[in-house]
Amino acid sequence: MEVYLLSFFCLILCSSYPLFISAASSNVDQLCNLLGGWYVTPQLCHSVLDSHPRSRTTDLNGLGIIAAKATAAKASSIAADIQLLLLKASSDINQQNVLKTCLKLYTDVVPLLKGAITAIEVKNYSKAETVLYAAFEVTGKCDNAARADTFLWSSLNHYDTEFANVSWVAHAIAAYIERYGT
Ligand SMILES: *[C@@H]1O[C@H](CO)[C@@H](O)[C@H](O)[C@H]1NC(C)=O
Ligand SMILES: *[C@@H]1O[C@H](CO)[C@@H](O)[C@H](O)[C@H]1NC(C)=O
Repeated sequence: MEVYLLSFFCLILCSSYPLFISAASSNVDQLCNLLGGWYVTPQLCHSVLDSHPRSRTTDLNGLGIIAAKATAAKASSIAADIQLLLLKASSDINQQNVLKTCLKLYTDVVPLLKGAITAIEVKNYSKAETVLYAAFEVTGKCDNAARADTFLWSSLNHYDTEFANVSWVAHAIAAYIERYGT
């Protein structure tokens, strides 16, 4: 009887112990510690992935999809914000041109990013890596256009930095899986 009880408790404790260990070191923790080669700090990686409800339970492919979707969502919301800035903009033709340039960049990248999400879903990581790198380059292009106008530069630079952060993390995840597998 005692032996039976003991093994019963071991069944509970011994089987829950490894679960506890793996929960403490989830895929997201492991992945975020591995992206340094792409200059992604664990903090930056976590800032993109942690808020998603599935980030602690999904696999590397799922984390890649979460990051690519976050990049597409960010591009859409930045495009919507720039559209508003354009509506409120003065009649200054230079400011309007800067805003139109950035609006086109962030609008055009959204369908490309949908392609990157699909590419990760079908495990074509090299395609995803290429598209996400091209998305990251949007930030430099908008930033360069915005430099022509001090008034707009600070708000556009903030959007560019936000987008650079999320797109670079998504790119690094696709590049990591492309190199080392899931
Ligand atoms: C991945 O996508 C690229 C670019 O679209 C394509 O050339 C390549 O054949 C695809 N690879 C696979 C394995 O589907
Ligand atoms: C971008 O990431 C860096 C590094 O984690 C962080 O310091 C910065 O606040 C982020 N910027 C924006 C606008 O999200």
